[in-house]
Amino acid sequence: MKRVFSGVQPSGELTLGNYLGAIRNFATFQHQAECFFSVVDLHALTVPQDPGNLRRRTHDVAKLFIACGIDPDVATIFIQSHVGAHAELTWLLLCLTYMGELQRMTQFKEKSQGKENVSAALFTYPVLMAADILLYDTHEVPVGEDQKQHLELTRDIAIRVNNRFGEVFVVPEPYIPPKNTGGRIMSLTDPTKKMAKSADANSSIALLDPPDVIAKKIKSAVTDSGREVRYDEVEKPAISNLMVIYSLCSGDSLDDIAARYGTSGYGKFKKDLADVVIQTLTPIQARYEELSEPGVIESILAAGAAKAEPIAQRTLSRLQDKMGIV
Ligand code: TYM
Repeated sequence: MKRVFSGVQPSGELTLGNYLGAIRNFATFQHQAECFFSVVDLHALTVPQDPGNLRRRTHDVAKLFIACGIDPDVATIFIQSHVGAHAELTWLLLCLTYMGELQRMTQFKEKSQGKENVSAALFTYPVLMAADILLYDTHEVPVGEDQKQHLELTRDIAIRVNNRFGEVFVVPEPYIPPKNTGGRIMSLTDPTKKMAKSADANSSIALLDPPDVIAKKIKSAVTDSGREVRYDEVEKPAISNLMVIYSLCSGDSLDDIAARYGTSGYGKFKKDLADVVIQTLTPIQARYEELSEPGVIESILAAGAAKAEPIAQRTLSRLQDKMGIV
């Protein structure tokens, strides 16, 4: 059976971008493949984290996976650091990755730009990501467009290992939706930047934002000149982004939305957009609350780690053996 793996960092409040670009697709994949979804806490540690916040957010991400439709009886949900093989395989892969490859990573360049003290782990971050994916003999990896380069590196490492040591890894394929179906949801305050967890709060909609906050953020979202609602990434980047959000939340096509709101101005469009976003997030927020009873998420995550561990360990042993580890 086909295997699917993906991960989400507990590095901030999850956004509509995380949901529309990735997590929504996790729920679809669970019925077509054997799925592993991980809260990648070790990745979050590559930048400074408050320990209490990290602990809370790690559980929050797992709860949101389930609230967004991932069934823990069907897919395996676990915390990355609970399966020791992720860190162990990373070391072996670091020995097989070139500095030049990591120096080319645009996310590292962006995240380290202008910072004085950047951790060595932020630089080697993509190799931990490769380990996550390769440990589960993953065929497909649902992610947003921002992870494309990391997936390419993962494939290069897998191919290199297989060429050098014989068949060790499955070479994974990315599953990235095109931009007009959520691969890159943009900031509400600057449509040239992606919507991000760590950015200023008005630029993104958090999955747990209350309805009045969502309505306010959408009302104040930047728009383009003119008053026509039409999909045009070049001339109308802000409106195009809002149309994609509308389309994914409502199920209506971009053409239908353009036909409905075309010349009636931005005000009515934004008001209805707030309604469809609220309708999408309200049931997710209700399920999230139900999972907040003490002990519930902890036992789901313990069962997930117990399922992931032997699979990961087998893959790790395969490479250890090939590399001459006694
Ligand atoms: P992270 O935690 O930043 O984001 C989680 C997922 O959400 C997608 N995403 C977006 N999609 C569309 N529009 C946006 N504005 C947007 N913002 C985020 C991301 O592409 C991602 O799919 N390095 C990864 C975590 C990771 C991982 C892995 C992913 C670690 N190991 C193994 C896949 C497989 C990251 O930082 O995602």
